[in-house]
Amino acid sequence: MSPAGTPGSDAQTILDRCDELARESSAAHGITRVYLSPEHARVNAIAAGWMEAAGMTTWQDAAGNQRGRYEAETPGAPAVLLGSHLDTVPDAGRYDGVLGVLLAIAVVDRLHRAGTRLPVAVEVAAFGDEEGTRFGTALLGSRALAGTWDDAWWQLVDDQGTTLRDAFTAFGLDPAAVADAAPPRGSLVGYLEAHIEQGPYLEEADRALAVVSSIAGARRFELTVTGVAGHAGGVPFHRRHDALAGASEIVLAVERLARDAGCVATVGRLQAFPGGVNVIPGLVEASVDLRGEHDAERDAVWEAVLAEAAEVAERRGLTVEARETHSAPAVVASPALRDVVREGIAATGDADPMTLFSKAGHDAMAVAELTDWAMLFVRCGAGGISHHPDEIVGLADVAVALDAFEAAVRALAARTAEAA
Ligand code: GLV
Ligand code: MN
Ligand code: MN
Repeated sequence: MSPAGTPGSDAQTILDRCDELARESSAAHGITRVYLSPEHARVNAIAAGWMEAAGMTTWQDAAGNQRGRYEAETPGAPAVLLGSHLDTVPDAGRYDGVLGVLLAIAVVDRLHRAGTRLPVAVEVAAFGDEEGTRFGTALLGSRALAGTWDDAWWQLVDDQGTTLRDAFTAFGLDPAAVADAAPPRGSLVGYLEAHIEQGPYLEEADRALAVVSSIAGARRFELTVTGVAGHAGGVPFHRRHDALAGASEIVLAVERLARDAGCVATVGRLQAFPGGVNVIPGLVEASVDLRGEHDAERDAVWEAVLAEAAEVAERRGLTVEARETHSAPAVVASPALRDVVREGIAATGDADPMTLFSKAGHDAMAVAELTDWAMLFVRCGAGGISHHPDEIVGLADVAVALDAFEAAVRALAARTAEAA
């Protein structure tokens, strides 16, 4: 590890810590770390150690998020909340979510080393579930903190048939106490999240940082297409009800309808049953992830998908059912906090920061229900690849992101003091 005390060495520490957390995986190869797993408990403990070394008091909250607080000049003052997530998609990169948590801890570490207390406290939340990998429904950790937990979620099940309720208990949490994850209303002055861009625009523009204008609303569904299994040789085409052939038409319709409407949609998981090479598929289960800058446009795409799926089902003698597993509306960053992030970026020498709209989802979407928010995007290389092991960020970009994030936090603290 580089010597401490310079921005470069802080950035190197952050990258070293990303590597350390990447070792906490349920998979023998690659990184997979899901909500309420043993790996989740381990990264929480590691992050808590780093928070404490940065002068914070720490606790694991009632939803399994790792939290920390660096006290204000006046103890008990409202806090700026910084955060992102420590869970991952299957076979993930090492920076999605993690970089934002570590930048947040590093900002506090700098304040602590400088002996600085701000007019606001600085809290950090390392969210346990943003991706929704384990239970299908995303943002569980940040929605618990936002106080928007839905009791219907207790019955969600993972691939092993474990309910969310049982997973809570196995992790040592009390389902009846989940509301305690939410801070009291009025105790936050805002939420700032740093995150890798997960797209190519910063790299194309040869810039390191951007301020986020808004985040696309996302909906996710589980599609079940039911036909009739049968002999791959014996059943002639005119008598078939092939669930996979029908599902394939629907997959292509999802892509076409979303593209035509300026939205994005992905079928990321598809399974055919019974799965024999010489058996006509009788059942298909598939996921659909659908996003748009405007909720109404995105919802119109879904209605069109359903209509086309019904037509496919009718023509092929299939049934199609859709179950919504996740829904989050599009959110727009608060103008005042956007200005704070712009000020933070400007302090690093970029007088006219780039603004980007995020098609990726973030914990900020959930925290938006609780308080004002804004986000700082950091360039990721290799064309902006993400949700992939090749995810990459540069040392110099992490260094400038840390400077900008610290400057944004200080700017928000100063504005809050001025307004008081
Ligand atoms: C989270 O990364 C999402 O956008 O799905
Ligand atoms: Mn992600
Ligand atoms: Mn993320």
